[in-house]
Amino acid sequence: MEKIRMILDCDTGHDDAIALMLAAAHPQIELVGVTVVAGNQTLDHTLENTLNVCSHLGIDVPVYRGCDLPLVREQLVAGDIHGKTGLDGPVFGPCTMQAQKEHAVHFLIRTLMESDGDITLVPTAPLTNIAMAMRLEPKIIPKIRRISLMGGAVGMGNASPAAEFNILADPEAAHIVFTSGVPINMMGLDLTNQVLADMQIIERMEAIGNKAGKLFGDMMRFTFHTQKINGLEAGPVHDVTAVAYLVAPQIFTMQPMAVSIDLSHGLCYGRTVCDVNGRTGDDRNILVGLGTDLEAFWNIVEEALRLLP
Ligand code: BDR
Ligand code: CA
Repeated sequence: MEKIRMILDCDTGHDDAIALMLAAAHPQIELVGVTVVAGNQTLDHTLENTLNVCSHLGIDVPVYRGCDLPLVREQLVAGDIHGKTGLDGPVFGPCTMQAQKEHAVHFLIRTLMESDGDITLVPTAPLTNIAMAMRLEPKIIPKIRRISLMGGAVGMGNASPAAEFNILADPEAAHIVFTSGVPINMMGLDLTNQVLADMQIIERMEAIGNKAGKLFGDMMRFTFHTQKINGLEAGPVHDVTAVAYLVAPQIFTMQPMAVSIDLSHGLCYGRTVCDVNGRTGDDRNILVGLGTDLEAFWNIVEEALRLLP
């Protein structure tokens, strides 16, 4: 079986950490590297969180420090959702891992240029690193097989009435990526707010009885305090859907649409404007996630967590 070669580009908060666990453990995935960007918290925190998760679970993957500020706008973090560290909740022992010396953007360019065009990028964070790489070396663009990203929404936002956090935190970077011509699937809030870790899911993962299941529980119990979707006691695992799509696209309901990023500095700054009914006549080039088979989704997550320590 040919493995899916992927690079995870993340801002490790709670759901990024689970996406990382799935990417590291799934037998169909080869995790080539992890690039880190500022987002949920400042870069020092998101990098430390990534290294802590890898060290805690013995995930042996090179981790790269990326961009610490968005391209144009002032920095936006999500301390209200992910806490002061960006990954509040779990307690980690001493970290045994270090970031690589090479910058994340250089790693992305080098790895894509050396590849046979078989690498998929999975951004679960503001798109700063990916946009920087595309601008610094546009020859990487035809080398990217696909971008499976978490971000955006057809409907309401979560960081503003109109915009989802990952896009609002760097709208200009999102514009560069969405207009690059690379095949993109966008796992936005319409889908990800349906994928909730409630107490039943948390207890199911903890019952696996390993460190990964416990980490899942320690993280997602924290999100109960900060996130309530429709008033439910449950935290969404947004980012995990972008990894799960690679191994099981058939469990997701996807619709092709033309999607543009609103760059006007008004109320809709950072909105992903989704042309659901084809009004613009523009190419419906973005596959937008709208739903999933939740049972199949959680089975995939559980099976992967079982393979970790
Ligand atoms: C996205 O923003 C972050 O808080 C999450 O990690 C996810 O990537 C959801 O809007
Ligand atoms: Ca994230």
